[in-house]
Amino acid sequence: MGHKLTVRNCNPQDPRDCEAYERLKPGAVFAHMANRPNYDAREDLFFADVDGAIIGYLDITVELGIGRVVLDYWVHPSYSPRPILMELLHRALERARKLGARKAHVSVHSDKLAEAELLLSSGFNEVRRHYEFRLDVSEVNLESADRLNSACRHLEAGGEERLAQIQNRCFAGTWGYNPNTIEDIAWWLRVKGNSPDDVILAWDGSRVIGYCWTAADCGQDSSTGRNKGRIYMLGVDPDLRNRGLGRELLRAGLSHLKSKGREIIDITVDSKNDAAIKLYDSEGFQLCEETLWYERIIGYPHPGNP
Ligand SMILES: CC(C)(COP(=O)(O)OP(=O)(O)OC[C@H]1O[C@@H](n2cnc3c(N)ncnc32)[C@H](O)[C@@H]1OP(=O)(O)O)[C@@H](O)C(=O)NCCC(=O)NCCS
Repeated sequence: MGHKLTVRNCNPQDPRDCEAYERLKPGAVFAHMANRPNYDAREDLFFADVDGAIIGYLDITVELGIGRVVLDYWVHPSYSPRPILMELLHRALERARKLGARKAHVSVHSDKLAEAELLLSSGFNEVRRHYEFRLDVSEVNLESADRLNSACRHLEAGGEERLAQIQNRCFAGTWGYNPNTIEDIAWWLRVKGNSPDDVILAWDGSRVIGYCWTAADCGQDSSTGRNKGRIYMLGVDPDLRNRGLGRELLRAGLSHLKSKGREIIDITVDSKNDAAIKLYDSEGFQLCEETLWYERIIGYPHPGNP
């Protein structure tokens, strides 16, 4: 007898849905997600049930500032992914259309060929490549960066607006960057692994001219058990680039993570970002993984496509 597949919206009042979300999405905390600005778990989170058991989800991040939604999904490997994913994508694209998004983006690890094939056959195209760079910071001499110089200070409580301003200025027009509101920044600072202390700001008098946002709570490396950290964002005011400030902020961030006992530091960078790649390469970061971004333009549904 065939199994009965149902794709449905999340019910945030049902503890089984909250528990399933945290079990299926590594590192996720339902309460954090449910409080995210511009996110409505009742509309933006779907579950796939087979014979009453939750075996997959699709989560939508709404970024209408750049006309897109970002889709994140997972289907239990013991089920054939195609029909489940097709139904999840169908529901997500319907929602995206209703929101007025022009495109949907999905990121897939470059070695997941079957998944890429499935997206390509569903109207998605490959549009971007991101690199994952990694550095073993225990081997790196950061003496010169061990103490912040007087023009660099940790973010203080209530500094969300300054951080939003410098981040939006540094990343304006960058592919996939949706300008952040103060509420977005405050939310990111509240969620696990982000505290104001983990953000370093560079000042010129009363003006913020660059920043390095680190994440210290990134778990352990699965093969070695060593503590991981992340350079989450790094930016320098466009008028002040190429004068050494980016390198200084990066080293201050690495030193901060090292002082918190983090050894393996990850950074994600767009393959077209020559300046950042050169900087990370010269500090000893090594390319360890690649992620591909796929895009589906949201028009009307096509026959055979979600
Ligand atoms: C990446 C970024 C932080 C670098 O900051 P910066 O202050 O300009 O960098 P620095 O002056 O410290 O330069 C450090 C190194 O980066 C490389 N670099 C900087 N600008 C470069 C450019 N335009 N082209 C190629 N390499 C460049 C060089 O290797 C340089 O070292 P060198 O001067 O010894 O050769 C800055 O370009 C930026 O804010 N970009 C937009 C936001 C962004 O993309 N952040 C990174 C996301 S992963």
